Amino acid sequence: MVKCMCGIIGCLLDNKRAAPVLLNCVKKLEYRGYDSVGIATSSSDIKIKKDSGKIDDVHKNLDLDDLPGDMGIAHVRWATHGLPTKENAHPQTDCKDNIAVVHNGIIENYKELKDQLIGEGHQFKSETDTEVIPHLIEKYVEMGNNLESATRLAIGDIKGSYAIAAICRDEPNKVVGARKESPLIVGKGENEYFIASDAPAILEHTNKVIYLEDHEMVVLSEEGIEIKDIKGNVIKKEIFTIDWTPDMAEKGGYAHFMLKEIHEQPEAVKKTLLGESEIKKMVKKFPDFNRVCFVACGTSFHASLIGKYLFENLVGIPTDVSLASEFEYSADTLDEKTLVIFITQSGETADTLKALRLVNHMAKTLAIVNVLGSTVTREAEYVIYTRAGPEIGVAATKTYVSQLACIYLLAIYMSGKMELMEKLQNIPEYMETALQKEELIKEIAQKYKDSRDFFFIGRGFSFPTAMEGALKLKEITYIHGEGYAAGELKHGPLALIDEGVPVVAVTPPGKSHDKTLSNVEEVKARGAHVIGLGSSEDGVLKYEVHDMIEFEDEIDEMFSSMPYVIPLQLLSYYISVMKSIDPDKPKNLAKCVTVE
Ligand code: AGP
Repeated sequence: MVKCMCGIIGCLLDNKRAAPVLLNCVKKLEYRGYDSVGIATSSSDIKIKKDSGKIDDVHKNLDLDDLPGDMGIAHVRWATHGLPTKENAHPQTDCKDNIAVVHNGIIENYKELKDQLIGEGHQFKSETDTEVIPHLIEKYVEMGNNLESATRLAIGDIKGSYAIAAICRDEPNKVVGARKESPLIVGKGENEYFIASDAPAILEHTNKVIYLEDHEMVVLSEEGIEIKDIKGNVIKKEIFTIDWTPDMAEKGGYAHFMLKEIHEQPEAVKKTLLGESEIKKMVKKFPDFNRVCFVACGTSFHASLIGKYLFENLVGIPTDVSLASEFEYSADTLDEKTLVIFITQSGETADTLKALRLVNHMAKTLAIVNVLGSTVTREAEYVIYTRAGPEIGVAATKTYVSQLACIYLLAIYMSGKMELMEKLQNIPEYMETALQKEELIKEIAQKYKDSRDFFFIGRGFSFPTAMEGALKLKEITYIHGEGYAAGELKHGPLALIDEGVPVVAVTPPGKSHDKTLSNVEEVKARGAHVIGLGSSEDGVLKYEVHDMIEFEDEIDEMFSSMPYVIPLQLLSYYISVMKSIDPDKPKNLAKCVTVE
């Protein structure tokens, strides 16, 4: 089966060709998938251009924007199973190419539906699960339904998750959309209407959006936007104004989004700290909690680990951290006295959403999210927004430090240790200084770019920072990197340390410093090349290591996580570029992981 975690777009414009607009919008969704792309527009009949490959490459060969008609749909695909081929690229069509559909999600019962449709005479052209949708719509249209009711009947047959957009040759001024468990928003411009997987894709055209809920449908037509429930009843929905601007989703002179986003981090933290009063109000309303549990994936999981150290040290409350994908296997000890904090930049991660749905009604839920109106924000009891702006690079950077800023605010307010606010307010300045190390980090990257393995070590607050450094390295350089608790090395991984293996030691001043230093000596004795991150006043560390990245002495371990992660992000970024990898679109990965 070909599963997708993709981006979809649909638009109906006012006397303007849709294909160039669709191409522009779908490019903004490329972070969601980049193994195939396709556009379908409708005028007298449906015209489709699609192929496997990155959008720019496919566009060079096919002139994707050269299609007639002022309405259409587009798709960028990220396959987890099956080949990214032209046939499997979306839009997928019915037998007569009268109906075209783009889809993000997984049709779980596609096999039985496909067999049944084949039995009824339908002919399939791809291996995708999606292709059953246009054939189902075709079947219901032939039974006398219009596109809207045929789509409603078709999704009634489907089990699984979907955000879809469908068009039909015989109804040339209509785009129908529907969602269940995959994100879909509606954009309302001046006499032009959009549906999209997320808001940055359409920001150039409108910042007025409606968030669809599961089992809702939308019809874009010359009369405007109509949202309906699954039974066909019209529903009134709130229109949100997004304060992100189109240039926030542009590279702004940087070579890659990731580099731009790394540089935006001090500002992102400053803006997130401005949310202090909302957090203060929220904390005042909290009941008494006797336990905190963080749930997240990937980089958001690393932010959660810092949360554990902070909550246990500052608030003095037992705190667990769970990988969202593991949560269901240990969830039943929660009660009303537990605060479960879900961290997710996208607010759409399937594993995190599933865990949230398991917890709701068992314990109190709080979500820390970057994307306004995303599914997690609508299902959690309390929501805190990070104010990082849109993050396009697949590797999380500015959303990570913004999540950390929220966690610090929360821990400070829950502990009442307001004297720590000053230290937190100084962080963006320290992050600015960390960014000034770029040239030095480039040199270090050049030195170690051909290494086969990297180790990142740290203790306490620095352990998650080490793990995050290793994740960034794996994700965008394809080099094997291990983030290890420094004290754990001697329990196994020390056997992997040989002559010249780079070990990055995260060693800020504080309780863990001396012990990490002993571990530095251990790896050096086995031939490792140590890159030290520590205080500019730390003469001993400087003496021990081969390369040193210095920070202000005032940054102790408890407040080190935001500034200290910056050189690690830059190190991976430059190695990635030196290896001619596109750090914004690493292979096999997607920004928003909407499958479990
Ligand atoms: C980070 O660089 C990764 N792209 C990934 O680990 C990410 O943090 C994870 O998939 C969770 O995403 P979320 O924050 O949107 O839930």
